[in-house]
Amino acid sequence: MKLITGIPEMQREADALRREGRRIGVVPTMGYLHEGHLSLIRIAARHADVVIATVFVNPTQFAPEEDFSKYPRDPERDLSLAESAGAAIVFMPEIGEMYPAGYVTYVEVETITKVLEGKFRPAHFRGVATVVAKLFNIIKPHIAVFGQKDAQQAAVVKQMVRDLNFGLEIIVAPTVRETDGLAMSSRNVYLSADGRARSTVLHRSLRLAEGLIVHGERACPVIVSEMRKLIESRPPAAIDYISIADPVTLEELSSLKAGKDVLVSMAVRIGGVRLIDNAVVRVP
Ligand code: PAJ
Repeated sequence: MKLITGIPEMQREADALRREGRRIGVVPTMGYLHEGHLSLIRIAARHADVVIATVFVNPTQFAPEEDFSKYPRDPERDLSLAESAGAAIVFMPEIGEMYPAGYVTYVEVETITKVLEGKFRPAHFRGVATVVAKLFNIIKPHIAVFGQKDAQQAAVVKQMVRDLNFGLEIIVAPTVRETDGLAMSSRNVYLSADGRARSTVLHRSLRLAEGLIVHGERACPVIVSEMRKLIESRPPAAIDYISIADPVTLEELSSLKAGKDVLVSMAVRIGGVRLIDNAVVRVP
């Protein structure tokens, strides 16, 4: 496996692969890799000849009060895990390589970035869209894999790819969970032992919603209120939002229609750690 840190070298390498007729898959990450990231690399390897994993803690998607400086990092471990999952190249640029002095260009995806996560993290998706657009322009992959764990992020990237004609396929991979249901996340290391024990309430509330929907509940406020009751039954868990929305437009729904998929999603703060989770449910 090759480690590349410079943009010109990454471009030369990707150009050469494309000239050889090889199909390039990219998996963008912020490192501190876990099974969720590795599953994306494995899925990319099934759809491409060469998988490039990128590891870059992107400063532009963090608000000033967020965890950019303390975001967990372990580049050595990331390299060996990425290799074991099947990455041929890891692209790990420095901040100054991606955002040199004088950098002023950003990608703004409108509408779907203003709801859900966007309400609580106003500049977040501008940073995500910008760095993902840069990575796509540097590597020019044929496919890119993103996780369902960050459902809104995947929807934003798909919208950007359509709107800006990137001409690549976005694959969305299922959420990988711990055995007790907690969605894997680099940020789970912030949880205290007590917080970790309580964190399963996110997944349990999704299962509750799924059960209600499957058993015929069609009123979204009723479903949301049952989820809220479960999450608040063991305080202190602070709910940022619970949402039932259209999976593509992310528009809030008031009632459910048979045969449609709906996105049930939430953000909950447990002991100061902000966790997100979601499930796509087919309404019977
Ligand atoms: P990061 O949080 O490192 O996640 C990288 C990719 O892994 C994302 O597509 C995310 O959805 C996916 N992922 C995270 N946890 C997962 C899980 N438990 N199961 C499946 N997939 C999971 O998301 C980002 O980084 C950044 O915003 C990035 C896209 C790299 C842009 O900076």
